[in-house]
Amino acid sequence: MIKKGDFISVQQALDKKKGSVALHGWVHRETKMKDKIFLVIRDSSNIIQCVVKKDVVSQDEWKSADKVLVESSIELQGTLRQDSRAPTGYEVDVSKIQVLGYAEPFPIQKEINEELLLDRRHLWLRSRKMTAILKIRSTVFGAIHEYFRNEGFYEFQSPIIIPGGAEEGPTLFEVKYFDKKAYLTQTWQLYAEAAMFALEKIYTIAPSFRAERSKTSRHLTEYWHAEMEVAWIGLDELLEYAEELVKHVVKRVLEKNKAELEILGRDVKKLEQALKKPFSKITYDQALKLLKDKAKMPVPWGKDLRTTEEEKLTEFFDAPVFVTHYPKDIMAFYKPRDPKNPKVALCFDLLGPEGHGEIIGGSVRDPSIEELKKSLKAKGEKIEDYSYYLDTRKYGSVPHAGFGLGVERLVKWICGLETIKDAIAFPRTPDRFTP
Ligand code: 4AD
Ligand code: MG
Repeated sequence: MIKKGDFISVQQALDKKKGSVALHGWVHRETKMKDKIFLVIRDSSNIIQCVVKKDVVSQDEWKSADKVLVESSIELQGTLRQDSRAPTGYEVDVSKIQVLGYAEPFPIQKEINEELLLDRRHLWLRSRKMTAILKIRSTVFGAIHEYFRNEGFYEFQSPIIIPGGAEEGPTLFEVKYFDKKAYLTQTWQLYAEAAMFALEKIYTIAPSFRAERSKTSRHLTEYWHAEMEVAWIGLDELLEYAEELVKHVVKRVLEKNKAELEILGRDVKKLEQALKKPFSKITYDQALKLLKDKAKMPVPWGKDLRTTEEEKLTEFFDAPVFVTHYPKDIMAFYKPRDPKNPKVALCFDLLGPEGHGEIIGGSVRDPSIEELKKSLKAKGEKIEDYSYYLDTRKYGSVPHAGFGLGVERLVKWICGLETIKDAIAFPRTPDRFTP
């Protein structure tokens, strides 16, 4: 009916302001009256109000428009004009309309609980909220690639199926590998350290898996992990990369996604604030002091910060904050002792402000095969499981460091979301892997 090449997007129509337009999209809202039907049409770009009049369109067209329910897909042609009462300020007087796919009554109404929304996630993705988040997420992925590539990094991929040996044994997902047991990766790191000897500066964005039972607002069992590994650097340079990366991503979102941030009701000033000054840097010891003095939350030295403590801590900052030098004994085996204070490790977490908590974790990597073996033994690990990794230290070991950023954690903070589940299209959590 309408020529394919004639269609423009809803946003293009809004920018055009007047004249004839051809649009296709889905019915976002419908209001039917005796001789007029108001259809708010949605496509990926925006929404626009259209009005179908009984005395303008053919009888068949009127009948089909009258059967239209929310989420029906339609094509239409008409004339655009300004109308301050319409939701986006313009209205289309429809001259031609065709329904492509009728919709059954849409199973998502205003009053619906969180679990049902997750059951119907495949449909909920069309909401303005989820659409806005998915667009921001797309900017975030693009900006991470852009940052690392501009900095001269190679993109390197590690295996997803691994033989074992990783961050924390108990949170490995087991998979049946023919007649053997294998696991899903938690981090690319041990493979990345091997590849670093070839490529020196590498990064990836890939899925990581954690069989964590914790049902918190920031844990997924499957998440996207942006990781980097660099030869010849120490903790200071590593922190610089982390800060630049986060700032670059936030800058790109502010440039490209103002409209989406507004749909989400995100206070943009809070993000702009993060770009203004260097991120604060405190040590683990200073963090404990802050928690004790300002929050009356005493944490005994040597204990890791729990979610509640991290959240409290970040309330004292208006931008992401680095916490460095955690106690060596509670850290992963590859984090080296600080030569200036052997009780702590050369490592950091970057915590998101406003109570969002850990976004990045990283460290210098221990170059000494003897120290690595000692740490593995202390953690009750089998040295044989790590033989390929330890091998890397036998042939020209060099100082190097790297970090991992939880992409959904970053999206959660940027979008100001209550839960990490909304930072990914189809969240996987301890009690859900459907749809
Ligand atoms: O702190 P983690 O466990 O560090 C590592 O895996 C290192 N090997 C990374 C590296 O140095 N290459 O995880 C890194 C980040 C965390 O800071 C957090 O943002 C995210 O991964 N993360 C999770 N995100 C969502 N759900 C979970 N269950 C997560 N666990 C970690
Ligand atoms: Mg961590």
